[in-house]
Amino acid sequence: MRVVTTREELRAARAGLGGAGEVGLVPTMGFLHEGHLSLVRRAAEENDATVVSIFVNPAQFGPAEDLAAYPRDLDHDLGLLAAAGVDLVWAPRVEDVYPAGFDTYVAPGGVADVLEGARRPGHFRGVATIISILFHLVAPRRAYFGQKDAQQVAVIRQLVRDLGLPVEIVACPIVREPDGLAMSSRNTYLTATDRPAALVLSRALRAAGQAWENGERDAEALRTIIREVLAAEPRAKVDYVSVADPRTLAELGTVDPAVGALASLAVRVGAPRLIDNLVLAPRA
Ligand code: PAF
Repeated sequence: MRVVTTREELRAARAGLGGAGEVGLVPTMGFLHEGHLSLVRRAAEENDATVVSIFVNPAQFGPAEDLAAYPRDLDHDLGLLAAAGVDLVWAPRVEDVYPAGFDTYVAPGGVADVLEGARRPGHFRGVATIISILFHLVAPRRAYFGQKDAQQVAVIRQLVRDLGLPVEIVACPIVREPDGLAMSSRNTYLTATDRPAALVLSRALRAAGQAWENGERDAEALRTIIREVLAAEPRAKVDYVSVADPRTLAELGTVDPAVGALASLAVRVGAPRLIDNLVLAPRA
């Protein structure tokens, strides 16, 4: 496994992977867990070579967010990636990605303005910019993202469609702890008291999923079911609850059974703000 830092090294190493084979890219911010590794394994299965990037991207953090405190452990990450059979890792410094004078950003549209985008202004502009740089430098055939960041997946799909980028976006299922908590690097911020309380997120989504299975098609009724479960956990402070069109993320009145919906939420449990979601899959 090669580990490179600069854009030039990445270009040269990418060329060394050979033009004929298909390359799978897994963009990450490091501090890898089983969720990331599920993306890496899938990329390795479906491509001739696998490239992983590790970069805590300052452009997607707001001034009041946790950029400096974001958990990092590059040596541990590299050990995991080597064991997973990754071919090439790009672990740039900030100045490799954003050299002095850098002044071009990719601004996504409406799908980035709601939910996370409304609470974290500029977040998806930062994501769309780093993903555009990565796709340009790595030229992957496929790129792998976790469905846990469902809005990120929707924004990147729109980016790829609008700019005509020749990359297939593969969204991989959320990986959960055995008790249901969606894996996230930010789970490390949960205290021992908050950790059990955080299970309320997946419990609330499961309740909505059950109602959907039982034929509930009224989006507000589904949101109410989620809010009621969350309200029973005093340590949970709800930011938003959404039942939205899975492509545009526009809030729904009635869910079209042929299209389904994305149920998603953001909840503060103690200090960390956690997100989770459930696809309400189309029904015939
Ligand atoms: O999901 C993440 O870890 C980041 O948003 C990504 C896709 C690596 C871009 O920085």
